[in-house]
Amino acid sequence: MNILAIGDIVGTVGCQFLHEKLPALKKAENIDLVIANGENSADGNGITKLSSELIFSGGVDVITLGNHTFKRKEIYEVLDNSLSIIRPANYPENTTPGNGYMVYDLGRIQITVINLMGCMFMEPLNDPYTVIDDILKKTDTRIKILDFHAEATAEKLAMAYYLDGKISAMFGTHTHVQTSDERIFPKGMGYITDVGMTGPYESVLGVVPELAVRKFREKLPVKFETAQGKCRLDCIKFTINDKTGKTLDVKRIEIL
Ligand SMILES: [Fe+2]
Ligand SMILES: [Fe+2]
Repeated sequence: MNILAIGDIVGTVGCQFLHEKLPALKKAENIDLVIANGENSADGNGITKLSSELIFSGGVDVITLGNHTFKRKEIYEVLDNSLSIIRPANYPENTTPGNGYMVYDLGRIQITVINLMGCMFMEPLNDPYTVIDDILKKTDTRIKILDFHAEATAEKLAMAYYLDGKISAMFGTHTHVQTSDERIFPKGMGYITDVGMTGPYESVLGVVPELAVRKFREKLPVKFETAQGKCRLDCIKFTINDKTGKTLDVKRIEIL
């Protein structure tokens, strides 16, 4: 079983690039399931109904999110009604729209996809360790994949050691910069600290460079705009043994 995980898709320009590149990539790499982070897919940040539809029509099966999930009010209802868009599971339990994990049914096999957010240098949500323990108790699929949306490398690595042997693969998102540390942990969990970004190459994490520079220099609020032009698509392919749920191979991919 081959699962492709795609880094934060930024803006309409990122969604369009996904449409251009994903179909051929899925064919070439023999992909069974595509997961993509869509927290920045709407122009001006967050996710909208339209941007989520653009991601799905581009060939993605499950959308995960992060700290920008709730920027747009219109997505609240979509989250409550869509099983294929999940938000970090460690938001407050009874008041947060949507779900923190889902089970994708491929017919011959089911896959649990989980989304969590880190707490270092980010909004302090519920403890991700307690939350994922609870989810793992409730799910019995052999294959389980986690998008850990977090800032700090150490937080992602510590979580990886905690989850090795319990889930099939974990990929990090949020920094928008792909790390070159893809690996298989000792008990068979596939891993990368950050899978990267799908969006404009000449940008600061997707934002027009001049606007990012102004924000850092002048310290005043600046309305960010998505950069345009040449894009990149960052992703990772996990090859997983259907019978054991363990990762056999990890392949990091960047498409320019
Ligand atoms: Fe992001
Ligand atoms: Fe983020």
